[in-house]
Amino acid sequence: MRLHQSPASPFVRKVVVVLKETGQEGDVALVTATGTPVNPDAMPVALNPLGKIPTLERDDGPALYDSRVICRYLDDRAGGKLYPAGPRLWETLTLEATADGISDAAVLMRYETAVRPADRQWPDWLDGQWAKIARSLDALESRWISHLSGPLDIGQIAVGCALGYLDFRHAARDWRSGRPALAGWYAAFATRPSMAATAPV
Ligand code: BEZ
Repeated sequence: MRLHQSPASPFVRKVVVVLKETGQEGDVALVTATGTPVNPDAMPVALNPLGKIPTLERDDGPALYDSRVICRYLDDRAGGKLYPAGPRLWETLTLEATADGISDAAVLMRYETAVRPADRQWPDWLDGQWAKIARSLDALESRWISHLSGPLDIGQIAVGCALGYLDFRHAARDWRSGRPALAGWYAAFATRPSMAATAPV
């Protein structure tokens, strides 16, 4: 299989962490995609009409996207340990959606400042994206620490990758301020070998 990717993407990082946690890293070759939403030529548009990464090219079936589909496929392929059975599944998927929403907003903020011409940037829009992130971080701090501290699942991996991306691209926003429990959880989670090996640089 071939994973179309960019190492800076928190969504790609989710997939690579899942590959490592499920022992399938050797089954997937990494192919770097260098495009952007305004220059999709270097993105895998023939495999994924959205031209987005991560996209997983398979030998025995159509390409898979997005990160939620790929992670679930890879976990299933490995015998399944990252998606709990019973009612906890819905908590796990909601936690993953919350984390992916943080990553979505954070990547949009990055494109707004790094890709959009400076004279067309809109500070109110940036503030609106950060407000989504801040509300979600507050929810993680107040409601999700118990789940985050339980057995490893895809929700935790998604949160770890989202927080890592905030450190990478939005460090000046200081997401840890006022969120000591989440900061403490992340400090420990970031030492997992799968996370330490995939930190964006
Ligand atoms: C980044 O450079 O921040 C980035 C690159 C690709 C996808 C998402 C984010």
